[in-house]
Amino acid sequence: MKIANVQMEPVFLGREENLDHAAHLLEKTSDAKIVVLPELFNTGYNFQNKAEAELLAEDYKTGPTSRLLQDIARENEQYIAAGYVEKIGDILYNSQLLVGYDGVVSSYQKVHLFFNEKKFFAPGKEFKVSDLGDIRVGQMVCFDWFFPESTRTLMLMGADIVLHSANLVLPYCPNSMVTRCLENRMYAVTSNRIGEEFGLRYIGMSQITGTDGSIIHRSPEDTEEVWIEDINPLLARNKDMNDLNNIVSDRQTDVYKIK
Ligand code: ACM
Repeated sequence: MKIANVQMEPVFLGREENLDHAAHLLEKTSDAKIVVLPELFNTGYNFQNKAEAELLAEDYKTGPTSRLLQDIARENEQYIAAGYVEKIGDILYNSQLLVGYDGVVSSYQKVHLFFNEKKFFAPGKEFKVSDLGDIRVGQMVCFDWFFPESTRTLMLMGADIVLHSANLVLPYCPNSMVTRCLENRMYAVTSNRIGEEFGLRYIGMSQITGTDGSIIHRSPEDTEEVWIEDINPLLARNKDMNDLNNIVSDRQTDVYKIK
């Protein structure tokens, strides 16, 4: 199964330009069944006040970003995951939309908010896994990576792959995903952005990580890139390490002192 990551440089608050640019990049992914775009790919990330985020907030189904991605997904017969500002009632979320050829599949609201995001967005309250037939996908947005509970929860919910839209500023995530994938026997597609906004520099290094922790592909730090890889989702279904160890049933849940 072909999956793609798209590393791009959004223009801050330039939704129209960003949608045009993303549509152009997505033309190169028409072979892929699943494509992941970065967090807030259509607006930029570093909002200076809530009004800026509110201005470009959208409904998950009828907003301009959702409508465009639904059209492209239908045409390419693929699934696309992409970050955007979602408005539900009066509340803003840093969300990841997942659309397919039959329309919207899911919208995930980022659970772990980073720094100034806490001033603008409400945290999501649930992780989401969708069964797309021959693969089950879990959704994650950027800083969720810092909490191993995110990937562990998605694995226990049945995800074979993590669709991870990111605007990474800390340098640790690409290496961390090696361990997150290894310990959960899952794939991950981390799609990051490049460039700078008001003193924040984004690190690029989008990554496709294998179920054995291998770095299948890592993008450069400072250039846009579209990358397609072939994966075997069945590798994520086997949680046996050997004849005596299974990474799910070996967990000692009565011993762990966590809530
Ligand atoms: C981040 O969560 N965008 C750093």
